[in-house]
Amino acid sequence: MASILMLNGPNLNLLGDREQSIYGSSTLDDIMAACERFASTCGFSIEHAQHNAEHRLIERLQQCRDGSTRGIVFNPAAFTHTSIALRDTLLALRLPFVEVHLSQPLARESFRHVSYFSDIALGTISGFGADSYLLGLQALINHLDAAPDAGGSAATQRALQA
Ligand code: DQA
Repeated sequence: MASILMLNGPNLNLLGDREQSIYGSSTLDDIMAACERFASTCGFSIEHAQHNAEHRLIERLQQCRDGSTRGIVFNPAAFTHTSIALRDTLLALRLPFVEVHLSQPLARESFRHVSYFSDIALGTISGFGADSYLLGLQALINHLDAAPDAGGSAATQRALQA
């Protein structure tokens, strides 16, 4: 089964407890379980990882060079606004990825208005809370389904046409 990596940056392990008025009450485990259920109905498996350290995120991304991963849904969290190193890793990988955020960074402090990922991502989904992950995953799967060497099902197309 084709695999998608869902990768989460610093402090996202605290979801459900951290600043609930901004990030909601779902835990990261809740969100990843919902994504796993959705992906499996589309014929994809999910691998998920969360790291607080930049180098561990880089190392996890570099593991995708083994060819087993078709695409990535990435919430770089605070590294969104700082990390040239993670950007360079994604450029080296050449795998399609969707940037996701629970909050809408453009409606927050000005230091969150810069993203080192948006211009190299397939697209960015932000501001929909936990749904941002599901929407980002659906967008990635639709993209992979449309690709000529797609390994996934066309379940999302069928759902849209129903
Ligand atoms: C975030 C937005 C970032 O600005 C922030 O540093 C995070 C979470 C989000 O999902 O809304 O940690 O990526």
